[in-house]
Amino acid sequence: MSGSNLQFCVPAGGRLQGTVRVPGDKSISHRSIMLGALAEGVTQVSGFLEGEDNLATLEAFRAMGVKIDGPNHGRVTIHGVGMAGLRKPTAMLNLGNSGTSMRLMTGILAAQSFDCSLMGDESLSKRPMKRVTVPLASMGARIETTAAGTPPVLIHGGTPLRGIDYLMPVASAQVKSCLLLAGLFAQGRTCVTEPAPTRDHTERMLRGFGYAVDVTGNQVCLNGGGRLRACGIDVPADISSAAFFMVGASIAPGSDLLLQHVGINPTRIGVINILRLMGADLSLRNERVVGGEPVADVRVRYAPLHGIRIPEDQVPLAIDEFPAIFIAAACADGETTLTGAHELRVKESDRIQVMAEGLHTLGIDARPTDEGMVIRGGRIGSGVVHSRGDHRIAMSFTMAALRAQATIRINDCANVNTSFPGFVSLAQHTGINLRAEG
Ligand code: S3P
Repeated sequence: MSGSNLQFCVPAGGRLQGTVRVPGDKSISHRSIMLGALAEGVTQVSGFLEGEDNLATLEAFRAMGVKIDGPNHGRVTIHGVGMAGLRKPTAMLNLGNSGTSMRLMTGILAAQSFDCSLMGDESLSKRPMKRVTVPLASMGARIETTAAGTPPVLIHGGTPLRGIDYLMPVASAQVKSCLLLAGLFAQGRTCVTEPAPTRDHTERMLRGFGYAVDVTGNQVCLNGGGRLRACGIDVPADISSAAFFMVGASIAPGSDLLLQHVGINPTRIGVINILRLMGADLSLRNERVVGGEPVADVRVRYAPLHGIRIPEDQVPLAIDEFPAIFIAAACADGETTLTGAHELRVKESDRIQVMAEGLHTLGIDARPTDEGMVIRGGRIGSGVVHSRGDHRIAMSFTMAALRAQATIRINDCANVNTSFPGFVSLAQHTGINLRAEG
């Protein structure tokens, strides 16, 4: 999955037009497999994201004895085994590049009767796991990591868990979800309080599976010992994938693009809010609720952007979209300042560092700070930028070419398939002259 030799070659210029539907939501797709596996009955999923990250989750549950049909054009059928039905896998589970798989599954696996080990690729092997193993330990779990708190993760089974009341030090939906999933199996009540709202798909989907979840302000609670009932899941298009095209159409003169069936859950729409503050022309149409998640078609037309100070309360709501937002900032008039986003340093890459390096290559004044960046908009040059194997960075610099002086080449792009299979052809379809080489 390292795919270090796939390069994107993106000639300068172009505009985005037409109507497209980007692939399904990654977060919801992961949870559909996990909850479907633990449920009683057969869960049918449509719109499932067939990216490598989600396939890693799917294969891991197959390895634990869950019968899963598909994926076939986004359709997946999960034959749930119930809360006590998972079986010990015969080998270590390899979760590739997927932090969400590892963190959420650690919560489920901490409560099983068997031992289990989780590993990942080079990037995942550097990512912090103490944020989940420390609170899980206080629930009674026995988990080992490296001394640095990184994978591989060795989970000892056969340990009864008890509910906790946990105040999360970082705003992380992965940590919240991990503890809620562990809480399903724990004795008593588990309550998680987050310092700021983060994506709430786990809470919504648990309810969809018939599990009672109590939300009061920033606190989510559930009682352990219940059951999940299989249900149908219609996965909306991923706003995190749509975000690249929102930025592309906003920065390329003459663009007018319609993105269909985009998930607009209020805990995910930071990118829309931030781009609008910068002057972007985004309008929502045909707003509706599909399977408990709000969805809309998003029309994006070119508009001149201006720099802003990004409100810190938008950071968790746009946490995966900053590489794309930085490209918008590089094309905006004036300075854009991001603060309160230290989490970006521990994503699939150090996104503050790697984006700053790429922007410098393109001649943009980008000043990284410990927890953010200051970017002065300017002329986008050209050259070879490195994505460092980070899917979202590769796709963000693809959009930068729309405003570049000459061709931009982006190295190490194979991991685009972790979250956005079909990106190259979809980008070409909208008007980007992208070629994948190597
Ligand atoms: C995710 C939560 C986010 C996000 C990740 C997916 C999820 O991570 O970056 O891509 O599905 O819960 P954090 O909650 O750790 O910020």
